[in-house]
Amino acid sequence: MELVGRMLDGSIPYDLKGVLQPSAGPLVGQDEKIERLQEVPIFEGCSRRQLRALARITGVFDAPAESVLMRAGEPGREFFFILDGSARVEVSPRKRARLGPGEFFGEMSLLDGQPRSATVVAETPLRLLVINGRHFWPLLKEVPELAQSIMATLSRRLRQAEKSLNA
Ligand code: CMP
Repeated sequence: MELVGRMLDGSIPYDLKGVLQPSAGPLVGQDEKIERLQEVPIFEGCSRRQLRALARITGVFDAPAESVLMRAGEPGREFFFILDGSARVEVSPRKRARLGPGEFFGEMSLLDGQPRSATVVAETPLRLLVINGRHFWPLLKEVPELAQSIMATLSRRLRQAEKSLNA
């Protein structure tokens, strides 16, 4: 029900229907979601009110190994936060990155409105927090630690890219 409801209200797009399954059965209640959010280090400092707000705008989903979460060049509509498992980011034939629990992907398109910069594939079964693009900026406002983490990550990637250009 949650998946269908979220497709209908636009939080989860239809093109991820075959990939994402609601975690832990069809009924993930708000309280259970809040409990899971509390376990995520970046949300540790959040108040109960913030966690409730977060639970309203996030979905907890599972994706099987080898599923493609996004493809380079496609429009971006969601932000993904990894709760469990690892994902492979295929930036170019020569550049790949691995992301694990506590890391995220899909932020770049939501920040600048440009197409996806890379293809992201589940390397293992993944448990994800999925946030629809229209909730992305409110999320950053609600959790400034996440905004800081995103900025630090982008800065690190820029340094790495410049380093490899100059190498
Ligand atoms: P976005 O461009 O929306 O979609 C592809 C995502 O892959 C991108 O956001 C980032 O989250 C991620 N990504 C792109 N380049 C890198 C990189 N060099 N290292 C790790 N992740 C990346």
